[in-house]
Amino acid sequence: MPVTVVIGSQWGDEGKGKIVDLLAPEVDIVARYQGGANAGHTIVWDDQHFVLHLIPSGIFHEGVTCVIGNGVVIDPVALMEEIRQVEALGFQVEGRLLISHNAHLIMPYHKALDKARERWRDAEAIGTTGRGIGPAYVDKFARTGIRVVDLLDRDGLREKLCTALDEKNAILQSVYHDEAIDVEAMIEEYVDFDQRIDPFVTDTTAFLGQALANGKRILAEGAQGALLDVDFGTYPYVTSSHPTAGGCCTGLGVPPTSIDRIVGIVKAYTTRVGNGPFPTELQDDDGELLRAQGHEFGATTGRPRRCGWLDTVALRYTARLNGFTDLAVTKLDVLAGMYELKVCMAYRIGDKTTERFPNDIATLERAEPIYETLPGFDGDLSGIEAVEDLPGDARDYLKFISDVIGVPISMISTGPRREETLVV
Ligand code: GDP
Ligand code: IMO
Ligand code: MG
Repeated sequence: MPVTVVIGSQWGDEGKGKIVDLLAPEVDIVARYQGGANAGHTIVWDDQHFVLHLIPSGIFHEGVTCVIGNGVVIDPVALMEEIRQVEALGFQVEGRLLISHNAHLIMPYHKALDKARERWRDAEAIGTTGRGIGPAYVDKFARTGIRVVDLLDRDGLREKLCTALDEKNAILQSVYHDEAIDVEAMIEEYVDFDQRIDPFVTDTTAFLGQALANGKRILAEGAQGALLDVDFGTYPYVTSSHPTAGGCCTGLGVPPTSIDRIVGIVKAYTTRVGNGPFPTELQDDDGELLRAQGHEFGATTGRPRRCGWLDTVALRYTARLNGFTDLAVTKLDVLAGMYELKVCMAYRIGDKTTERFPNDIATLERAEPIYETLPGFDGDLSGIEAVEDLPGDARDYLKFISDVIGVPISMISTGPRREETLVV
Protein backbone atom coordinates (compact mmCIF):
# COMPACT_ATOMS: atom_id res chain seq x y z
CA MET A 1 0.00 0.00 0.00
CA PRO A 2 2.41 2.79 -1.09
CA VAL A 3 0.09 5.81 -1.39
CA THR A 4 -3.41 6.19 0.03
CA VAL A 5 -5.31 9.36 -0.81
CA VAL A 6 -8.06 10.69 1.42
CA ILE A 7 -10.47 12.96 -0.44
CA GLY A 8 -13.59 14.87 0.55
CA SER A 9 -16.39 13.66 -1.70
CA GLN A 10 -18.70 16.65 -1.20
CA TRP A 11 -18.14 20.38 -0.55
CA GLY A 12 -15.55 19.99 2.24
CA ASP A 13 -15.76 19.46 6.00
CA GLU A 14 -16.63 15.77 5.61
CA GLY A 15 -14.37 14.79 8.52
CA LYS A 16 -11.11 14.29 6.59
CA GLY A 17 -9.00 15.40 9.56
CA LYS A 18 -10.54 12.82 11.84
CA ILE A 19 -10.07 9.97 9.35
CA VAL A 20 -6.50 10.98 8.42
CA ASP A 21 -5.59 11.14 12.12
CA LEU A 22 -7.12 7.71 12.55
CA LEU A 23 -5.21 6.17 9.63
CA ALA A 24 -1.94 7.96 10.41
CA PRO A 25 -0.47 5.27 12.73
CA GLU A 26 -0.62 2.84 9.77
CA VAL A 27 1.66 5.02 7.59
CA ASP A 28 5.07 6.68 7.70
CA ILE A 29 4.20 9.99 6.07
CA VAL A 30 1.12 12.20 5.91
CA ALA A 31 1.23 14.83 3.16
CA ARG A 32 -0.98 17.74 2.14
CA TYR A 33 -1.04 18.28 -1.64
CA GLN A 34 -3.26 21.32 -2.30
CA GLY A 35 -5.16 24.20 -0.77
CA GLY A 36 -3.87 26.19 2.15
CA ALA A 37 -5.14 27.64 5.38
CA ASN A 38 -8.66 27.71 3.93
CA ALA A 39 -8.81 24.14 5.25
CA GLY A 40 -9.86 23.45 8.83
CA HIS A 41 -9.29 19.82 9.81
CA THR A 42 -10.54 19.00 13.29
CA ILE A 43 -8.94 16.33 15.44
CA VAL A 44 -10.36 15.27 18.79
CA TRP A 45 -8.56 12.94 21.20
CA ASP A 46 -8.68 12.45 24.98
CA ASP A 47 -9.70 15.85 26.30
CA GLN A 48 -8.00 17.69 23.44
CA HIS A 49 -9.42 19.35 20.35
CA PHE A 50 -7.35 20.96 17.61
CA VAL A 51 -8.12 22.46 14.22
CA LEU A 52 -5.24 22.12 11.75
CA HIS A 53 -5.15 24.49 8.79
CA LEU A 54 -1.79 23.81 7.14
CA ILE A 55 0.03 21.13 9.10
CA PRO A 56 -1.02 17.64 7.95
CA SER A 57 -3.32 15.68 10.26
CA GLY A 58 -0.63 13.14 11.16
CA ILE A 59 1.26 15.54 13.43
CA PHE A 60 -0.24 14.13 16.64
CA HIS A 61 1.41 10.74 16.00
CA GLU A 62 5.09 10.89 16.95
CA GLY A 63 6.29 8.31 14.42
CA VAL A 64 4.76 10.09 11.44
CA THR A 65 6.58 12.60 9.22
CA CYS A 66 4.36 15.37 7.86
CA VAL A 67 4.90 16.95 4.46
CA ILE A 68 3.48 20.15 3.01
CA GLY A 69 3.83 19.55 -0.71
CA ASN A 70 4.58 21.84 -3.62
CA GLY A 71 0.87 22.08 -4.51
CA VAL A 72 -0.05 23.79 -1.23
CA VAL A 73 -0.12 27.59 -0.91
CA ILE A 74 1.47 28.54 2.40
CA ASP A 75 0.85 31.58 4.54
CA PRO A 76 4.17 31.57 6.45
CA VAL A 77 2.80 33.70 9.29
CA ALA A 78 -0.17 31.35 9.80
CA LEU A 79 2.11 28.31 9.52
CA MET A 80 4.58 29.54 12.14
CA GLU A 81 1.69 30.28 14.51
CA GLU A 82 0.24 26.81 13.94
CA ILE A 83 3.65 25.21 14.60
CA ARG A 84 3.85 27.18 17.84
CA GLN A 85 0.40 26.01 18.92
CA VAL A 86 1.12 22.35 18.16
CA GLU A 87 4.41 22.57 20.04
CA ALA A 88 2.58 24.18 22.97
CA LEU A 89 0.53 20.98 23.19
CA GLY A 90 3.77 19.08 23.73
CA PHE A 91 4.33 17.69 20.22
CA GLN A 92 7.69 17.87 18.47
CA VAL A 93 7.32 19.57 15.08
CA GLU A 94 10.88 20.37 13.99
CA GLY A 95 12.37 17.30 12.35
CA ARG A 96 8.88 15.92 11.70
CA LEU A 97 7.50 18.59 9.37
CA LEU A 98 8.93 19.06 5.89
CA ILE A 99 7.91 21.94 3.65
CA SER A 100 8.40 21.92 -0.09
CA HIS A 101 10.85 24.54 -1.29
CA ASN A 102 8.63 24.92 -4.36
CA ALA A 103 5.36 25.64 -2.56
CA HIS A 104 4.00 29.12 -3.26
CA LEU A 105 3.46 31.67 -0.52
CA ILE A 106 0.35 33.53 0.46
CA MET A 107 1.33 37.12 1.16
CA PRO A 108 -0.70 39.92 2.77
CA TYR A 109 -1.59 41.32 -0.66
CA HIS A 110 -3.20 37.99 -1.62
CA LYS A 111 -5.51 38.21 1.38
CA ALA A 112 -6.25 41.87 0.62
CA LEU A 113 -7.04 41.02 -3.01
CA ASP A 114 -9.19 38.03 -1.97
CA LYS A 115 -11.34 40.28 0.21
CA ALA A 116 -11.40 43.14 -2.30
CA ARG A 117 -12.51 40.85 -5.13
CA GLU A 118 -15.26 39.40 -2.98
CA ARG A 119 -16.52 42.91 -2.19
CA TRP A 120 -16.32 43.76 -5.88
CA ARG A 121 -18.37 40.70 -6.86
CA ASP A 122 -21.02 41.82 -4.42
CA ALA A 123 -24.11 39.61 -4.93
CA GLU A 124 -21.99 37.16 -6.94
CA ALA A 125 -19.37 36.77 -4.20
CA ILE A 126 -17.99 33.23 -3.91
CA GLY A 127 -18.03 33.33 -0.14
CA THR A 128 -14.31 32.54 0.11
CA THR A 129 -12.54 32.00 3.39
CA GLY A 130 -10.61 35.25 2.80
CA ARG A 131 -7.31 33.40 3.23
CA GLY A 132 -5.86 34.64 -0.07
CA ILE A 133 -6.06 31.25 -1.78
CA GLY A 134 -7.37 32.33 -5.20
CA PRO A 135 -4.98 35.29 -5.66
CA ALA A 136 -1.97 33.17 -4.58
CA TYR A 137 -2.77 30.47 -7.15
CA VAL A 138 -3.34 33.18 -9.77
CA ASP A 139 0.21 34.43 -9.18
CA LYS A 140 1.54 30.87 -9.30
CA PHE A 141 0.06 30.33 -12.73
CA ALA A 142 0.90 33.84 -13.88
CA ARG A 143 4.49 32.95 -12.91
CA THR A 144 4.76 35.95 -10.62
CA GLY A 145 4.47 34.05 -7.35
CA ILE A 146 6.89 34.00 -4.45
CA ARG A 147 7.90 30.54 -3.26
CA VAL A 148 9.21 29.10 -0.02
CA VAL A 149 12.70 28.94 -1.50
CA ASP A 150 12.59 32.72 -2.03
CA LEU A 151 12.26 33.23 1.73
CA LEU A 152 15.72 31.76 2.17
CA ASP A 153 17.36 34.52 0.12
CA ARG A 154 16.98 37.83 2.03
CA ASP A 155 18.22 40.17 -0.68
CA GLY A 156 16.37 38.44 -3.47
CA LEU A 157 13.20 38.44 -1.37
CA ARG A 158 13.38 42.19 -0.82
CA GLU A 159 13.52 42.71 -4.57
CA LYS A 160 10.69 40.27 -5.28
CA LEU A 161 8.45 41.87 -2.66
CA CYS A 162 9.08 45.34 -4.08
CA THR A 163 8.22 44.18 -7.60
CA ALA A 164 5.11 42.33 -6.42
CA LEU A 165 3.85 45.25 -4.37
CA ASP A 166 4.36 47.70 -7.23
CA GLU A 167 1.76 45.76 -9.18
CA LYS A 168 -0.54 44.71 -6.33
CA ASN A 169 -0.74 48.16 -4.77
CA ALA A 170 -1.63 49.63 -8.15
CA ILE A 171 -4.49 47.13 -8.43
CA LEU A 172 -5.61 47.50 -4.81
CA GLN A 173 -5.71 51.27 -5.03
CA SER A 174 -6.95 52.02 -8.52
CA VAL A 175 -9.32 49.10 -9.10
CA TYR A 176 -10.60 48.35 -5.62
CA HIS A 177 -10.03 51.76 -3.97
CA ASP A 178 -8.28 49.95 -1.15
CA GLU A 179 -5.36 50.98 1.04
CA ALA A 180 -1.86 50.37 -0.29
CA ILE A 181 0.31 47.87 1.59
CA ASP A 182 3.47 49.32 3.10
CA VAL A 183 6.50 47.75 1.37
CA GLU A 184 8.97 48.37 4.16
CA ALA A 185 6.65 46.99 6.86
CA MET A 186 6.12 43.87 4.79
CA ILE A 187 9.83 43.38 4.16
CA GLU A 188 10.41 43.86 7.89
CA GLU A 189 7.85 41.15 8.68
CA TYR A 190 9.17 38.62 6.17
CA VAL A 191 12.97 38.99 6.06
CA ASP A 192 13.68 36.89 9.12
CA PHE A 193 11.66 33.95 7.81
CA ASP A 194 14.89 32.71 6.24
CA GLN A 195 16.01 31.54 9.67
CA ARG A 196 12.61 30.56 11.03
CA ILE A 197 11.45 28.41 8.12
CA ASP A 198 14.83 27.05 7.01
CA PRO A 199 14.86 23.98 9.33
CA PHE A 200 11.66 22.73 7.68
CA VAL A 201 12.40 23.38 4.02
CA THR A 202 13.49 20.65 1.64
CA ASP A 203 12.93 19.12 -1.77
CA THR A 204 9.87 17.15 -0.65
CA THR A 205 9.46 15.48 -4.04
CA ALA A 206 12.91 13.92 -3.67
CA PHE A 207 12.08 12.95 -0.08
CA LEU A 208 8.81 11.28 -1.09
CA GLY A 209 10.44 9.54 -4.06
CA GLN A 210 13.11 8.10 -1.77
CA ALA A 211 10.47 7.10 0.76
CA LEU A 212 8.54 5.19 -1.92
CA ALA A 213 11.75 3.51 -3.08
CA ASN A 214 12.33 2.41 0.54
CA GLY A 215 8.87 0.91 0.80
CA LYS A 216 7.45 3.62 3.08
CA ARG A 217 3.75 4.27 3.14
CA ILE A 218 2.32 7.70 2.36
CA LEU A 219 -1.11 9.07 3.21
CA ALA A 220 -2.06 12.03 1.01
CA GLU A 221 -4.53 14.30 2.77
CA GLY A 222 -6.89 16.18 0.51
CA ALA A 223 -8.31 19.49 1.63
CA GLN A 224 -11.71 20.90 0.60
CA GLY A 225 -13.80 18.48 -1.44
CA ALA A 226 -14.26 17.20 -4.99
CA LEU A 227 -17.24 19.50 -5.62
CA LEU A 228 -14.96 22.48 -4.86
CA ASP A 229 -12.39 21.38 -7.47
CA VAL A 230 -11.58 24.24 -9.85
CA ASP A 231 -12.25 22.05 -12.89
CA PHE A 232 -14.82 19.54 -11.70
CA GLY A 233 -16.68 21.51 -9.04
CA THR A 234 -19.51 23.98 -9.22
CA TYR A 235 -17.44 26.67 -10.98
CA PRO A 236 -17.10 29.57 -10.21
CA TYR A 237 -18.23 28.65 -6.68
CA VAL A 238 -15.15 26.52 -6.07
CA THR A 239 -11.69 26.81 -4.60
CA SER A 240 -8.63 27.44 -6.80
CA SER A 241 -6.97 24.02 -6.59
CA HIS A 242 -7.51 20.33 -7.36
CA PRO A 243 -8.74 18.43 -4.29
CA THR A 244 -9.51 15.48 -6.64
CA ALA A 245 -7.19 12.49 -6.94
CA GLY A 246 -5.05 13.89 -9.78
CA GLY A 247 -4.11 16.82 -7.54
CA CYS A 248 -2.21 14.39 -5.32
CA CYS A 249 0.28 13.61 -8.11
CA THR A 250 0.87 17.20 -9.21
CA GLY A 251 0.79 18.55 -5.65
CA LEU A 252 3.35 16.09 -4.29
CA GLY A 253 5.28 14.82 -7.29
CA VAL A 254 4.34 11.19 -6.73
CA PRO A 255 3.48 9.09 -9.78
CA PRO A 256 -0.14 7.98 -10.38
CA THR A 257 1.05 4.36 -10.35
CA SER A 258 2.10 4.72 -6.70
CA ILE A 259 -1.52 5.24 -5.59
CA ASP A 260 -3.42 2.12 -4.70
CA ARG A 261 -6.14 3.32 -2.35
CA ILE A 262 -8.42 6.33 -2.68
CA VAL A 263 -10.73 6.82 0.28
CA GLY A 264 -13.76 9.02 -0.29
CA ILE A 265 -14.96 10.72 2.87
CA VAL A 266 -18.75 10.98 2.78
CA LYS A 267 -20.64 12.93 5.40
CA ALA A 268 -23.91 11.08 6.06
CA TYR A 269 -25.75 14.20 4.86
CA THR A 270 -24.47 17.23 2.92
CA THR A 271 -23.06 20.59 3.98
CA ARG A 272 -21.63 23.55 2.15
CA VAL A 273 -20.02 26.79 3.37
CA GLY A 274 -20.03 29.80 1.10
CA ASN A 275 -22.19 30.42 -1.95
CA GLY A 276 -23.15 28.32 -4.94
CA PRO A 277 -25.72 25.74 -5.96
CA PHE A 278 -26.73 23.04 -3.48
CA PRO A 279 -29.72 21.07 -4.77
CA THR A 280 -30.53 19.17 -1.56
CA GLU A 281 -30.17 22.17 0.76
CA LEU A 282 -32.81 22.30 3.49
CA GLN A 283 -34.14 25.63 4.61
CA ASP A 284 -36.52 24.16 7.14
CA ASP A 285 -36.50 22.58 10.61
CA ASP A 286 -34.63 19.49 9.35
CA GLY A 287 -31.82 21.74 8.09
CA GLU A 288 -31.70 23.53 11.45
CA LEU A 289 -31.63 20.19 13.23
CA LEU A 290 -28.68 18.95 11.16
CA ARG A 291 -26.80 22.19 11.83
CA ALA A 292 -27.49 22.04 15.56
CA GLN A 293 -26.84 18.30 16.04
CA GLY A 294 -23.84 18.25 13.73
CA HIS A 295 -22.37 21.52 15.12
CA GLU A 296 -22.16 22.65 11.52
CA PHE A 297 -20.18 25.83 11.85
CA GLY A 298 -17.01 26.37 9.81
CA ALA A 299 -13.77 25.22 11.46
CA THR A 300 -11.86 28.05 9.72
CA THR A 301 -14.27 30.98 9.58
CA GLY A 302 -16.98 30.00 12.09
CA ARG A 303 -19.67 30.59 9.45
CA PRO A 304 -22.84 28.47 9.75
CA ARG A 305 -22.69 25.65 7.23
CA ARG A 306 -25.63 25.18 4.87
CA CYS A 307 -27.11 21.72 5.49
CA GLY A 308 -29.14 19.26 3.42
CA TRP A 309 -29.83 15.63 2.59
CA LEU A 310 -27.35 13.23 1.07
CA ASP A 311 -27.01 13.66 -2.70
CA THR A 312 -26.07 10.46 -4.54
CA VAL A 313 -26.13 12.18 -7.94
CA ALA A 314 -23.21 14.29 -6.75
CA LEU A 315 -21.57 11.33 -4.99
CA ARG A 316 -21.68 9.05 -8.00
CA TYR A 317 -20.07 11.89 -9.96
CA THR A 318 -17.23 12.38 -7.47
CA ALA A 319 -16.75 8.61 -7.09
CA ARG A 320 -16.29 8.40 -10.85
CA LEU A 321 -13.88 11.35 -10.98
CA ASN A 322 -11.71 10.09 -8.15
CA GLY A 323 -12.00 6.33 -8.52
CA PHE A 324 -12.79 5.83 -4.84
CA THR A 325 -11.72 2.35 -3.74
CA ASP A 326 -13.65 2.66 -0.48
CA LEU A 327 -15.71 5.11 1.52
CA ALA A 328 -15.58 6.39 5.07
CA VAL A 329 -19.06 7.55 6.11
CA THR A 330 -18.87 10.18 8.84
CA LYS A 331 -21.32 11.84 11.23
CA LEU A 332 -23.81 8.98 11.10
CA ASP A 333 -24.65 9.75 14.74
CA VAL A 334 -25.96 13.19 13.73
CA LEU A 335 -28.86 11.55 11.88
CA ALA A 336 -30.01 9.59 14.94
CA GLY A 337 -33.47 10.65 16.03
CA MET A 338 -34.65 11.83 12.63
CA TYR A 339 -37.99 10.28 11.74
CA GLU A 340 -37.08 9.62 8.14
CA LEU A 341 -34.01 10.08 5.96
CA LYS A 342 -34.14 11.34 2.41
CA VAL A 343 -31.56 10.47 -0.21
CA CYS A 344 -31.43 12.30 -3.54
CA MET A 345 -31.40 9.78 -6.39
CA ALA A 346 -31.88 12.01 -9.45
CA TYR A 347 -32.59 15.60 -10.46
CA ARG A 348 -35.59 17.00 -12.22
CA ILE A 349 -34.42 19.80 -14.51
CA GLY A 350 -37.28 21.45 -16.36
CA ASP A 351 -39.34 18.57 -17.75
CA LYS A 352 -36.41 16.13 -17.80
CA THR A 353 -35.11 13.74 -15.18
CA THR A 354 -31.40 13.00 -14.98
CA GLU A 355 -29.06 10.94 -12.83
CA ARG A 356 -26.04 12.82 -14.19
CA PHE A 357 -24.47 15.72 -12.27
CA PRO A 358 -24.69 18.75 -14.60
CA ASN A 359 -21.35 20.37 -15.31
CA ASP A 360 -22.66 23.91 -15.53
CA ILE A 361 -24.14 25.73 -12.61
CA ALA A 362 -26.94 27.39 -14.57
CA THR A 363 -28.40 23.90 -15.05
CA LEU A 364 -27.51 22.76 -11.53
CA GLU A 365 -29.26 25.78 -10.06
CA ARG A 366 -32.51 24.59 -11.69
CA ALA A 367 -32.13 21.01 -10.46
CA GLU A 368 -34.82 19.78 -8.11
CA PRO A 369 -33.90 16.68 -6.12
CA ILE A 370 -35.92 13.50 -6.54
CA TYR A 371 -35.77 11.72 -3.21
CA GLU A 372 -36.09 8.19 -1.96
CA THR A 373 -37.22 8.10 1.66
CA LEU A 374 -35.73 5.64 4.11
CA PRO A 375 -36.74 5.03 7.72
CA GLY A 376 -34.77 6.95 10.33
CA PHE A 377 -33.10 5.37 13.36
CA ASP A 378 -32.86 6.20 17.04
CA GLY A 379 -30.32 5.88 19.77
CA ASP A 380 -26.91 7.07 20.88
CA LEU A 381 -24.36 5.53 18.51
CA SER A 382 -21.30 6.78 20.36
CA GLY A 383 -20.68 3.68 22.48
CA ILE A 384 -21.18 1.17 19.67
CA GLU A 385 -18.09 -0.88 18.84
CA ALA A 386 -19.26 -3.21 16.08
CA VAL A 387 -21.17 -2.61 12.86
CA GLU A 388 -23.63 -5.40 13.78
CA ASP A 389 -24.61 -3.42 16.88
CA LEU A 390 -25.76 -0.40 14.87
CA PRO A 391 -29.54 -0.03 14.63
CA GLY A 392 -30.89 -2.07 11.69
CA ASP A 393 -32.22 1.03 9.93
CA ALA A 394 -28.80 2.70 10.22
CA ARG A 395 -27.17 -0.35 8.62
CA ASP A 396 -29.81 -0.29 5.87
CA TYR A 397 -29.07 3.40 5.25
CA LEU A 398 -25.34 2.63 4.88
CA LYS A 399 -25.94 -0.35 2.60
CA PHE A 400 -28.26 1.77 0.48
CA ILE A 401 -25.56 4.46 0.06
CA SER A 402 -22.85 1.95 -0.76
CA ASP A 403 -25.05 0.15 -3.31
CA VAL A 404 -26.11 3.35 -5.05
CA ILE A 405 -22.59 4.76 -5.27
CA GLY A 406 -21.17 1.35 -6.11
CA VAL A 407 -18.25 1.60 -3.67
CA PRO A 408 -17.76 -0.41 -0.46
CA ILE A 409 -17.77 1.30 2.94
CA SER A 410 -14.60 0.64 4.96
CA MET A 411 -15.15 2.97 7.92
CA ILE A 412 -18.14 4.39 9.76
CA SER A 413 -17.67 7.36 12.05
CA THR A 414 -20.13 7.76 14.91
CA GLY A 415 -18.60 10.70 16.76
CA PRO A 416 -15.70 13.18 16.56
CA ARG A 417 -13.27 11.12 18.66
CA ARG A 418 -10.77 8.62 17.29
CA GLU A 419 -12.37 5.70 19.08
CA GLU A 420 -15.82 6.55 17.74
CA THR A 421 -15.10 4.77 14.47
CA LEU A 422 -16.18 1.37 13.22
CA VAL A 423 -13.88 -0.36 10.78
CA VAL A 424 -15.87 -2.59 8.46
P1 GDP B 1 -12.64 18.30 7.56
O1 GDP B 1 -12.42 19.67 7.06
O2 GDP B 1 -13.12 17.37 6.49
O3 GDP B 1 -11.47 17.74 8.31
O4 GDP B 1 -13.85 18.40 8.61
P2 GDP B 1 -14.03 19.54 9.75
O5 GDP B 1 -13.08 19.30 10.83
O6 GDP B 1 -14.04 20.89 9.11
O7 GDP B 1 -15.52 19.27 10.17
C1 GDP B 1 -15.92 18.04 10.66
C2 GDP B 1 -16.51 18.27 12.06
O8 GDP B 1 -17.24 17.12 12.43
C3 GDP B 1 -15.46 18.46 13.13
O9 GDP B 1 -15.97 19.27 14.13
C4 GDP B 1 -15.24 17.03 13.64
O10 GDP B 1 -14.75 17.00 14.98
C5 GDP B 1 -16.63 16.50 13.57
N1 GDP B 1 -16.77 15.06 13.29
C6 GDP B 1 -16.00 14.26 12.51
N2 GDP B 1 -16.53 13.02 12.45
C7 GDP B 1 -17.66 13.06 13.20
C8 GDP B 1 -18.67 12.09 13.51
O11 GDP B 1 -18.65 10.96 13.06
N3 GDP B 1 -19.68 12.51 14.32
C9 GDP B 1 -19.76 13.76 14.82
N4 GDP B 1 -20.80 14.07 15.59
N5 GDP B 1 -18.83 14.69 14.56
C10 GDP B 1 -17.80 14.34 13.74
P1 IMO C 1 -11.77 21.71 4.45
O1 IMO C 1 -10.41 21.20 4.02
C1 IMO C 1 -15.42 23.77 3.26
C2 IMO C 1 -15.01 26.96 0.31
C3 IMO C 1 -15.28 28.39 0.77
C4 IMO C 1 -15.82 28.98 -0.52
C5 IMO C 1 -14.96 28.30 -1.58
C6 IMO C 1 -13.77 29.14 -2.03
O2 IMO C 1 -11.83 22.11 5.87
O3 IMO C 1 -12.85 20.77 4.04
P2 IMO C 1 -11.43 29.73 -0.89
O4 IMO C 1 -11.12 30.44 0.39
O5 IMO C 1 -10.88 28.35 -0.99
O6 IMO C 1 -11.11 30.55 -2.10
O7 IMO C 1 -13.04 29.61 -0.89
O8 IMO C 1 -14.49 27.10 -1.01
N1 IMO C 1 -14.00 26.24 1.11
C7 IMO C 1 -14.29 25.26 1.98
N2 IMO C 1 -15.48 24.77 2.38
N3 IMO C 1 -14.29 23.22 3.72
C8 IMO C 1 -13.08 23.69 3.31
O9 IMO C 1 -11.91 23.09 3.63
C9 IMO C 1 -13.05 24.78 2.42
N4 IMO C 1 -12.06 25.49 1.85
C10 IMO C 1 -12.65 26.37 1.04
O10 IMO C 1 -16.23 28.41 1.81
O11 IMO C 1 -17.15 28.56 -0.73
MG1 MG D 1 -12.99 21.64 7.48
